[in-house]
Amino acid sequence: MLNLVGLGLRPEHLTEEARKVLSLSDKIYLDTYTNIVPEEWIASWESMVGKSFLRADRSTLEDGMKAIISEAKVSNVSVAVVGDPLTATTHISLYTEALKEGIDVRYVPGLSIHTVAMSLSGFEHYRFGRTVTVPYLWRQSPSFYERIASNRSLGLHTLLLLDLHPEPLTIRTALEALLYWEKELKRGVIDLSELVVGIARACWDDCFRFVGTVEELMEISFPPPPHVLIIPGDLHPIEEETLYVLRRHSHGKCKGTG
Ligand SMILES: C[S@@+](CC[C@H](N)C(=O)[O-])C[C@H]1O[C@@H](n2cnc3c(N)ncnc32)[C@H](O)[C@@H]1O
Repeated sequence: MLNLVGLGLRPEHLTEEARKVLSLSDKIYLDTYTNIVPEEWIASWESMVGKSFLRADRSTLEDGMKAIISEAKVSNVSVAVVGDPLTATTHISLYTEALKEGIDVRYVPGLSIHTVAMSLSGFEHYRFGRTVTVPYLWRQSPSFYERIASNRSLGLHTLLLLDLHPEPLTIRTALEALLYWEKELKRGVIDLSELVVGIARACWDDCFRFVGTVEELMEISFPPPPHVLIIPGDLHPIEEETLYVLRRHSHGKCKGTG
């Protein structure tokens, strides 16, 4: 049996279903590759579940996928993922490969940055286009910039996830990357006076959200990654009002998400 278990974005998000499934597992891999996982959170989950977690990096998850699948044929194996377990390609491959091998796979959903970032931005979820990842080597190709341009041509907002490897990108670097490609390609995606939303450490104790111009966000000192950035498309009047209120009355800490 293979369980793909979402942990949510902080220890308090662990659902009763996730806790039960993990506590009945023979082995629990914790994905430490697709998100940043504080050590103290690992200790909390281990104590809630009563089992220890084996840290799984990229090589365990991708190159070692066959080994995990073989174990799941003869025992009850869980792969625990911060957020939701089926938002990253790595885990979807694990899911489909296991199903192809005739293994029972259980999916336990978890609260995801995809939902939380959209909610914290104040924009309506159904007015977002394709989510885009800013790659670490952002100078090599403008494809992330072009995807934002195509969302914007449809009037849609863009959620930007920022690459974590070899080092986590920051909101500031992502904005530099966008301004660089804007200067090169001039698709009207961004300018210094554009209002955008930056969120650092959503649901962490020091969660920080800032609604402001690109210029302002580049000056702000956000807590360390993980970071996301939201680039608006066309604004509905309700979204304009929300953005205005968040900008005027709710800078900084975004408590209440834990
Ligand atoms: C591959 S995604 C992981 C998605 C995760 N499985 C989920 O469902 O939440 C990792 C990226 O999401 C963003 N991210 C994840 N957690 C975050 C958080 N708590 N606050 C801000 N950004 C976050 C960062 O841009 C990070 O590089």
